[in-house]
Amino acid sequence: MKEVGAQLKRLIDAAAPYWAGEAEVFRSYWNWEKRSRESDRRWLALQCSKEIWGSGLAPLDKGIFLGPAEELVAAFPRIDIELDRHAVLDIAEGLRAEFAHYCAFADAHDALALPGEPRLNPHAVKTAWKEDLELSALRFAHKKENAKLGDRATRFTEGGYCTLFSEGMKLKASKKGPHAHANALIAEACAQVYEDEFGHMLKGIIGLEADGLAAADWSRLQRMAIEQLRARIHMRNAQFGSPLAGAALERALAGRCDPIVFDYGKARLAA
Ligand SMILES: [Fe+2]
Ligand SMILES: [Fe+2]
Repeated sequence: MKEVGAQLKRLIDAAAPYWAGEAEVFRSYWNWEKRSRESDRRWLALQCSKEIWGSGLAPLDKGIFLGPAEELVAAFPRIDIELDRHAVLDIAEGLRAEFAHYCAFADAHDALALPGEPRLNPHAVKTAWKEDLELSALRFAHKKENAKLGDRATRFTEGGYCTLFSEGMKLKASKKGPHAHANALIAEACAQVYEDEFGHMLKGIIGLEADGLAAADWSRLQRMAIEQLRARIHMRNAQFGSPLAGAALERALAGRCDPIVFDYGKARLAA
């Protein structure tokens, strides 16, 4: 196990209440009186938009399918000449994983359709929602401010500690009630995505220590990460139709939720 440095631990501790704030959105939504088949289809479609178009993880017009697909085509003549085979495999695996996530959520979305309702496709979900565009814009602004730190912050905040997927997986237990069918579909989709996304988040976290950042960089990185995590709470709340409001929303945005306990064991890190 790799020992976690004090700086990284501080960053994780600072992020943990905001991860919890994001989780609070989903927990409030699952049993919300305004939840319906339509609202489930809406958030699932918006999730598909993220899995294909990437929310600032890639150029907006290419997203995380076309972006890596074009990179692979461009890489082919250079494999093992200028470009290591494993770097190319990484691109291919990223493409496969994100498209698999798209498929998982699109399948759940389509399974909730009434007869005659159209199937989802990537082009129908190209337009992201306002708060998701704001998250993308913030990530691009951070990269512009400082390319390395902005990219690190973006990778650190990717997936928001996977709380959508971990909270969604818990729905497996709710087999009764008006949302039983949807709950089973959502739990299944989230289970398919969870391990991959935990891995993506770890890549973003573990790389941080190898960089040998100066103390001032760590505090800048933390500021960027917290700004992005707050933007994620707005993005998730809007995605789910605003189940968090008033004091509960303020608490989440202020980082006053009980922090998520970071699983150092799963991350194969020693705290
Ligand atoms: Fe994904
Ligand atoms: Fe991912």
